[in-house]
Amino acid sequence: MKKDFLWGGAVAAHQVEGAYDAGGKGLSIADVMTAGSKTKAREITQGVMEDKYYPNHEAIRFYDQYKEDIKLFAEMGFRCFRTSIAWSRIFPNGDETVPNEEGLKFYDELFDEMHKYNIEPVITLSHFEIPYHLVEKYGGWRNRKMIEFFERFAVTVFERYKEKVTYWMTFNEINNQMIIENPIYAFTNSGVLFEEDEDRLKAVYQASHYQFVASAVAVAKGHKINPKFQIGCMVAGTPTYPFSCNPNDIVLAQKEDRKNLFYTDVQVRGHYPSYLLKEWEKCGYQLDITENDLKLIAEGCVDYLGFSYYLSLTVSADKNMEKSGIASAGTMEAVDNPYLEATPWGWSIDPVGLRYMLNLYYDRYEIPLFIVENGFGYEDKVEEDGIHDSNRISYLKSHIEEMMKAIEEDGVDILGYTVWGCIDPISFTTGEMKKRYGFIYVDRDNDGNGTFERRKKDSFEWYRNVIETNGQIVFEKQAME
Ligand code: BG6
Repeated sequence: MKKDFLWGGAVAAHQVEGAYDAGGKGLSIADVMTAGSKTKAREITQGVMEDKYYPNHEAIRFYDQYKEDIKLFAEMGFRCFRTSIAWSRIFPNGDETVPNEEGLKFYDELFDEMHKYNIEPVITLSHFEIPYHLVEKYGGWRNRKMIEFFERFAVTVFERYKEKVTYWMTFNEINNQMIIENPIYAFTNSGVLFEEDEDRLKAVYQASHYQFVASAVAVAKGHKINPKFQIGCMVAGTPTYPFSCNPNDIVLAQKEDRKNLFYTDVQVRGHYPSYLLKEWEKCGYQLDITENDLKLIAEGCVDYLGFSYYLSLTVSADKNMEKSGIASAGTMEAVDNPYLEATPWGWSIDPVGLRYMLNLYYDRYEIPLFIVENGFGYEDKVEEDGIHDSNRISYLKSHIEEMMKAIEEDGVDILGYTVWGCIDPISFTTGEMKKRYGFIYVDRDNDGNGTFERRKKDSFEWYRNVIETNGQIVFEKQAME
C-alpha cells in the first residue's frame, strides 16, 4: 500500500448541507424531491410545494456544523474528504454570468477548514445538483446551452480554488441515467423529465452526449488553469454477471455491462466505441453530435477513473426467471444471485465484485482508479451504551480486503478509497434518513425531527485504526471481534 493512499469519506452537498435557501443559493433539483421509501418512489414536484416535505432542505445542517464534522473526520485520520459544490450556491439560476460571492466564500472556508487538518478535498462538480431554473427554462441537459453554463461554473470554481483543490470529478454516476425505468435518474443526472411515450433511451443518449462534451471541455480548461489538477470522471461501477455459463447469459451480461462501460470508454479513451455507434444505427437515432464535439471529447480525456461500488447485478437470458426488480440500483433485468446476500434495501453484498470491477477497469483503461464511494446503508439502533454497527464494519472490512488484494496481488493502481456517507446523509434514492451509512450518527429521523447531535458509532474507532495501519488491520482477525 502506498504511504500516501487517500483514505477518507464521501458525501454530496445536497445530502448533507441543508440551508437550501441560505447565502443566496438558488433552488436545485434536489430541492424539489420529496421523501420516499424502499417501496415508495420520491416525487419530483414542480417547484417547492407548501404541503410537501423535502428532506434535503435541512439535510443534516452540515452548512452550519461543518467545523465540528471535519474535526471528527480529522480524529479518524482522514487523508481526504470528498464532497461536491452545490452549483446553485455559485450560480443560483445557472444561467447568470456573475457568480454569487457568498456561495464561493462558503466553499473557501470549507476547504480551508479541511487543510487545517491536512485533509485533501476531493470535489465533484455536479453531484445530482443542477440549478432547478435550468430544468424549467432549458429542459436540463436536453439542451446544448447547458455546455456553456457548465463550463462557466467549472471555470469559475477551478479559478477560485486552484490553490486549494487538486482532485476533481465532473459528473457523479453519469451512467445511472441509463436506468430509464426509474425516472429519478434522468432527472438527477441530467434534469431531464421524460415526456409521455417518448423514446427515453434516445433522450438519455442525447443528454449524455452534451455532458461528455461539457466534461471534456472542463478537463481541458482545468488543465490550463492548473496543470497539477487531477480531473476524473465518476461512474457507478456495477458489474453484471451471467447467471450461468450458458453462452446466452454471458452475451447478455456483456450487453448489460456495455450500458455502463460506454460512459468510461468515452471519457477515458476520448471517442465513442463501435458497439454504441452500431446500437444507434440499429435504433435509427440521429443525435445532435458535431465534428467539433468529437474533437473536444478527444482533447478532454480524464486523468483518473472515479467510481462508486455498492453491489453487483446478475442477469439471465431465461425469460421465465423471476426478476428481482431493483431499478433503484440497476437493470430491471436483474435476477437474484444465489451466492450473495442483500441489504434490507435489496442491494447485493459482493466484496469480491469490487476486486473484479477494479481489474476490469484497470485492464481496459490502464489509468489510476479512485473508489470514491462504498458503504453500507442500514437502520442503526441507538442503544444505551452506544451504536454497535458491527454489520457495517464487516461490510467495509470485506470490501477493503478485496481492494487491497487488487492492489497487492493484481497490481491495480488505486489513488484512494472514500467511504460513502461517512456522516449519516439523506439517502439519495429514497430520501430517507434511516438508511444510514455513517461512522458518525446524526440524530434526525425520516420526518426531520431530532437534535441533529453527532455521535460516534463503533465503526468510528475501527476506521480510525484502518487508516492508522494503512489498511493492514483488515487482515487481522480481531478486527472482526
Ligand atoms: C450513489 C450516489 O448512488 O449512492 C449517492 O452517488 C448515494 O449520492 C449513494 O447517496 C447511496 O445511495 P442511497 O440511495 O442509499 O443514498
